[in-house]
Amino acid sequence: MLTLLAFLTLILVYWFTKPRKQDTNLPPGPKPWPVIGSLHLLGEHETPFQAFTSLSKVYGDVFSITLGTSKCVVVNNFNLIKEVLITKGADFGGRPDFIRFHKLFGGDRNNSLALCDWSSLQKTRRSIARTYCSPRFTSLQYDHVNAVGCKEVSVFLVELKKKDFSQPIELKPMILAACANMFTQYMCSTSFNYDDSDFKKVVRTFDEIFWEINQGYAVDFLPWLLPIYKGHMEKLSSWASDIRKFILARIIDEHRLSLDHNLPPRDFTDALLMHLDEDPNLNWQHIIFELEDFLGGHSAIGNLVMITLACVVKHKEVVKRIQQEVESVTGGKRLPTLFDKASMPYTEATIWETLRTASSPIVPHVATLNTEIDGYTIEKGTVIFVNNYELNVGEDYWDEPEKFKPERFLSPNGNVVKPAHFIPFSTGKRTCIGQRLVQSFSFILLTTLFQEYDIEPACDLKLRPGCVAVPPDCFKLKLTPRNK
Ligand code: HEM
Ligand SMILES: *[C@@H]1O[C@H](CO)[C@@H](O)[C@H](O)[C@H]1NC(C)=O
Repeated sequence: MLTLLAFLTLILVYWFTKPRKQDTNLPPGPKPWPVIGSLHLLGEHETPFQAFTSLSKVYGDVFSITLGTSKCVVVNNFNLIKEVLITKGADFGGRPDFIRFHKLFGGDRNNSLALCDWSSLQKTRRSIARTYCSPRFTSLQYDHVNAVGCKEVSVFLVELKKKDFSQPIELKPMILAACANMFTQYMCSTSFNYDDSDFKKVVRTFDEIFWEINQGYAVDFLPWLLPIYKGHMEKLSSWASDIRKFILARIIDEHRLSLDHNLPPRDFTDALLMHLDEDPNLNWQHIIFELEDFLGGHSAIGNLVMITLACVVKHKEVVKRIQQEVESVTGGKRLPTLFDKASMPYTEATIWETLRTASSPIVPHVATLNTEIDGYTIEKGTVIFVNNYELNVGEDYWDEPEKFKPERFLSPNGNVVKPAHFIPFSTGKRTCIGQRLVQSFSFILLTTLFQEYDIEPACDLKLRPGCVAVPPDCFKLKLTPRNK
């Protein structure tokens, strides 16, 4: 035992006194421990991003941190973040090689649009998606988003009316089902019954994955822990294959049979299937992963709607202002549409304020070659964390950042204004492709809910900072139909 201790001490002494690498131009940072690196420093805070902020006070706005054995660099101010995402975007187009990411995407994270490394294939995939998932305000696609959203929200209301309003209501599964139908209808021209058990199951599975992807695990940085996570990793693979079965059987097969190559594509699914025949670099796997990926985006919107509800119902005056604004536009006589958005700046501002306070983390980037940030050397393979949390809640960027104040996004004459440093969907070549769908569908759902119901908390609504997900089983809300 004693020899062992002496041996360990020796290793530690050696570790802390051994000469550092010659390249002193690496960003400064905490000295890593053997094996775990500086992982322990992240555990001291509610979210790793809070740890990043406090470390930046010691080491500066760009610092190195070793997590497990991965070399990482954290970037903490807006100018440097722009350097990473825009000016040198091409140098930082990679993603970390976490084992979980492979498990979720058929054994290869390059199958995923968000977790793959940059490649010409990714360029093609992003461009196919752009027309459908980033519709412009004046496009036909935007009218279609509106039509799909409004139609589904009326189905949703019929379902919701069946509930017993004397009890707190578990809204999440219904919101997710509505979002899922908006997506399947918009992208695949199909929707499902709210009590279709296969549909319910797949919506739940997508939500489990969304929650999972928003967690950090030690095994991401300490791959030797893998045996302990064996069961977990198997669960991830089986989720992915359940989703695959549903999408093939209930969406793709029929679509493929009815595809007419002489007509313009009916929807995103048609566009993907047509590209498959035209582009030799695309194969069947790519197509169906891309469709799955995009359909999965509905979970992000469902979670955002739940988080917005949680933030809003804590502030009675915010609920009131939204309801007044919606009513001043619809007169309470019809349901809101996307074309009302321009006349409801306060409601839109509330969604931005929710995104600010929830502070969606930006997916880590990876340097694909030796490069620099702020003059410091960044070695190829370094994982780059963009501290978006600091941009969203830092004292340097906001007045009273801890307060929920939608009006901070309104100009004196009442228009929505967003400061340049507010980038909830990131920016640059890997920016979020789904942001217009997020803004559209969440707007329709939230305005309709507040027009039709008074909504109050039914329990303590504590949200996790730096996270746009709530657990699959989350909180209930008290709904009261409004008599208008
Ligand atoms: C609350 C909702 C959402 C938020 C806050 C959000 C935010 C983000 C952020 C911060 C990134 C990382 C960008 C980067 O690494 O620089 C991202 C990537 C991405 N998002 Fe979203 N997103 C949301 C919903 C969606 C939806 C609904 C879709 C699909 C319809 C979507 C599709 C994507 C894709 C495909 C990427 C990866 C792009 C790439 O790596 O090239 N997102 N999103
Ligand atoms: C993923 O794609 C990148 C870019 O094309 C490539 O360099 C890398 O080897 C691929 N990874 C795997 C696991 O195939």
